[in-house]
Amino acid sequence: MRKTLIAGNWKMNLNRAQAIALATDLKGEFSTEKKVDLAICPPFVYLDAVSTVLNGTSISLGAQDMYFEKEGAFTGEISGAMLGDMGCHHVILGHSERRHILGETDPVINKKVHAALALGLKPILCVGELLEEREAGKTQAVVRRQMEGSLKDVSAAQMEEIVIAYEPVWAIGTGKVATSQQAQSVHADLRMMIEACYNPAVAGKVRIQYGGSVKPSNAGELLSLPDVDGALVGGASLKAEDFLGIVAAAPAT
Ligand code: PGA
Repeated sequence: MRKTLIAGNWKMNLNRAQAIALATDLKGEFSTEKKVDLAICPPFVYLDAVSTVLNGTSISLGAQDMYFEKEGAFTGEISGAMLGDMGCHHVILGHSERRHILGETDPVINKKVHAALALGLKPILCVGELLEEREAGKTQAVVRRQMEGSLKDVSAAQMEEIVIAYEPVWAIGTGKVATSQQAQSVHADLRMMIEACYNPAVAGKVRIQYGGSVKPSNAGELLSLPDVDGALVGGASLKAEDFLGIVAAAPAT
């Protein structure tokens, strides 16, 4: 059985005091909540402070990106080892904002996936189509290309460590959420791709999150879909009440 994973992507939001306050609120409220796994991904500069708050709790710390090189002259970049040093267990890779605003490609994301896995970090690998791609009937082809490119040379054992996040780009931060039918259909396709590339046992273990305008009011329906194993939450992860509302809406697994 796949345990639901709810992850908060804080993106480039909050200041230090707000980040600490939000983590503190989550820690206070989540301590008795066991039915889902919870992760939060603050901006790099607040990882240390948030890590201190989360110390000793079951809430996992994640980062929003990393560079694939181990160390060296890469001004402005952050290595996976640095994330491990901060107490991170997860790292979001290939988020659509990095793909489409910052020009990240599948080969680069693939290097990051391998670098993260080598350090014991669990990638949350994001895939998803643009509105024009969906309208042109290319959703399946787009996510297949992203999966194949980003997961090149990943072994079956490594695949089990990876979380996939399906995030239709047109649903991110727009308030437009995918319908249950749209989400389940792509999630089922993704699981079939994993089964075809690996085997049914791996496909049965990999968690596939949905992301894009998830909020307390729509989380229950999305999270009850057979192939939706969690949510990657942006805007609604910035308020403890909303984020915990999503957690509360998750069916018991
Ligand atoms: P959103 O963002 O929940 O604000 O739509 C989701 C994401 O980008 O991960």
